[in-house]
Amino acid sequence: MMVLDAARSVAERHLAEALPRRWNHVQGVATRAEVIGPHLDGGPVLVAACWLHDVGYAPGLGTTRFHPLDGARVLREWGADNLMCGLVAFHSAAAHEADVLGLLDELRAFDDPQGLVRDLLWYLDMTTSPDGERVSFDDRMAEVRERYPADHYVSRALEGSMADRRGAVDRARAWLSSVGLGGQV
Ligand SMILES: [Fe+2]
Repeated sequence: MMVLDAARSVAERHLAEALPRRWNHVQGVATRAEVIGPHLDGGPVLVAACWLHDVGYAPGLGTTRFHPLDGARVLREWGADNLMCGLVAFHSAAAHEADVLGLLDELRAFDDPQGLVRDLLWYLDMTTSPDGERVSFDDRMAEVRERYPADHYVSRALEGSMADRRGAVDRARAWLSSVGLGGQV
């Protein structure tokens, strides 16, 4: 699939120059995914999703400025399959944010693909800092709380999304331990 093979260069083209800090984050997430990939059925899908998960932030892509939805829509236009679009649409508790924004019906044009690849994407995103460094989940959530003002949709959705976020992180960590990658990725 075009988007899967070209995920890194697509993301680089849209983010590296326009949003360098976001690009640093994406590189951190995807580099960690590349360590996990060989251990996982669906490893290439995870790696591609990690490269593409924030492409919706790119200026000029999409119309809602809600990056999971804009990203999923543009990926669909580019020919990505339902799984890739769904992974991007729902990554890291995006449904909770869409609900706050009144965009949940639009997001539900895609399917939230339950399972390990989705949990690992959420885990990697939520344990990689804005600069691309590996951080703890709690530190990342504290950083998000600090970065966004209280009335921002990210802040308004955060507490209600915490159980979903923790669930994904716990399942991802348990699997990583089961394949000998606990504490390494
Ligand atoms: Fe994101």
